[in-house]
Amino acid sequence: MNDKTHRRDFLKSTLKGTVAISVGMMPVGSFIEASPLPANKILAPYKTGFDQTPLPYAYNALEDIVDTTTMEIHYSKHAAAYAKNLKEAALAEKVDTTKPLEDVLANISKYTAKMRNNGGGHYNHEMFWQSMRPKQNDNKPTGKLLEAIEKNFTSFAGFKTQFSDAGKNRFGSGWAWLYADKNKALKIGSTPNQDNPLMDISEIKGLPLLGLDVWEHAYYLKYQNRRPEYIENWWNVVNWDYVAQRYDSL
Ligand SMILES: [Fe+2]
Repeated sequence: MNDKTHRRDFLKSTLKGTVAISVGMMPVGSFIEASPLPANKILAPYKTGFDQTPLPYAYNALEDIVDTTTMEIHYSKHAAAYAKNLKEAALAEKVDTTKPLEDVLANISKYTAKMRNNGGGHYNHEMFWQSMRPKQNDNKPTGKLLEAIEKNFTSFAGFKTQFSDAGKNRFGSGWAWLYADKNKALKIGSTPNQDNPLMDISEIKGLPLLGLDVWEHAYYLKYQNRRPEYIENWWNVVNWDYVAQRYDSL
């Protein structure tokens, strides 16, 4: 049994039938059957709580690419505010916060703009922190994920170009996404503001596998108006193991 299998089995056995609020974004297969996710059921094996989970590295861990001040403000101010405001909205709109946030996002059209903005903001950032790691040379996916990317986008370089363009061309604030649609096919797209492909109001729908924050708050201190340079550098810190874990959960 490898570490990954052991971790998954441990999570399944320990979390089965318990609440998801404190587990962050973890693959807990037993919740798939227990959660009411009619539209995105198969596409939401990850369950996100309403609280911020700890940053998985120090504020200065990505220094060459994301400067320490940006990381600290982004996590402890911007993302913390989304979590705080999300819980306020959940209280006001009688959302059971022991249930996964994904349940709310899949039906976001039934809630207020405050829920949409902060629910998306919290989910997107929780995923974003996990999808980065300290800089690695020749940083790229391997195995099944690499094969799928090459099949869908001709080559890894072709994929990067297409994804980068989605980020560069997003007017104003938003996100670029690699996501799996309902047929588990890989797609690239972008969403405005804090929307994401889990939302029923989104033009693109599926399970997010990798998201890139192109709000100015994510890069302005180091890159100012040079969003393309931020995106180009960001490829060095993508945590492909995390992306592969999400892809493997489909
Ligand atoms: Fe952000």
